[in-house]
Amino acid sequence: MDSSVVGIERRGAVCVLTLRRPDKLNALSYAVEEALASALSSEELQTSRAVVIAGEGRAFSAGADVTEFREATPESMLAYYRATGAVYEQFAALSQPTIAAIHGWCVGGGLELSLAADFRIADESARFKLPEVAIGIIPSSGGTHRLVRLLGTARAKELVFLRERIDAAEAFRIGLVTEVVSGGAALDRAVELATGLAELPAHALSLAKEAIDAMAESSRDAGLLIERVAYAALAQTPYAKSAVDAFVSGQTSSEGGSSA
Ligand code: COA
Repeated sequence: MDSSVVGIERRGAVCVLTLRRPDKLNALSYAVEEALASALSSEELQTSRAVVIAGEGRAFSAGADVTEFREATPESMLAYYRATGAVYEQFAALSQPTIAAIHGWCVGGGLELSLAADFRIADESARFKLPEVAIGIIPSSGGTHRLVRLLGTARAKELVFLRERIDAAEAFRIGLVTEVVSGGAALDRAVELATGLAELPAHALSLAKEAIDAMAESSRDAGLLIERVAYAALAQTPYAKSAVDAFVSGQTSSEGGSSA
């Protein structure tokens, strides 16, 4: 396996993954996806409290490596999906908060990968596009599903059918990205946000993430049940108990002070 195509770096409690195929605009070859799958189960990542994913060079990612399509057969595609095709689901299922730091091109499978993160922070240089249908395929790494959840059916169809390139401001306007920064600061801002998130109680954050993600796929009743079960699991932890005690005693003393 060529692990050099995905960098893994710890910055304190944050793990930064970097797609490293800059001469091919970080096109997601089988080798990149295999290295990404391996990075997701690495100790550096598993022991981190938040994850940032970014691209080296002038793009986040230009999507699936189209040169590999030429040699693909139905059997090899099936083998690929069995081996590493679920890597975006693996990324989406991480219990830590995840942030995609996007600059330059964010195309096709690259955009789908970013959709699997909790937040997308775009530099003003970011350009988004889903070109798949023009080459006879469709977004197939969870993208159609996630786009509908995130943007609604009509916007998802606009991006997939019309394949128009949109810039960072438009991506923010339609809700595709959560924040836009200028001057190439997407990675710095993502690490800053991740560092803040890494300081929060990990169990509460991961259950909040699971509950919110499950909510979108559940009935209202099932969603409320998930929320209550998560609350019940968290409310009795020593962390929650001591935080409540601190809050109550702080309130008591400040109330006492003001009434004195
Ligand atoms: N797969 C394989 N190689 C890719 C690639 C991809 N998806 N996207 C870019 N590259 C390669 C180019 O072939 C080129 O390689 P070379 O220098 O050896 O010729 C290099 O990356 C730079 O790309 P280039 O096209 O010169 O950059 P650009 O800035 O002019 O254009 C894009 C950027 C993203 C608009 C253009 O590269 C593109 O349309 N790429 C294909 C996007 C795509 O169809 N993705 C698959 C969808 S799932």
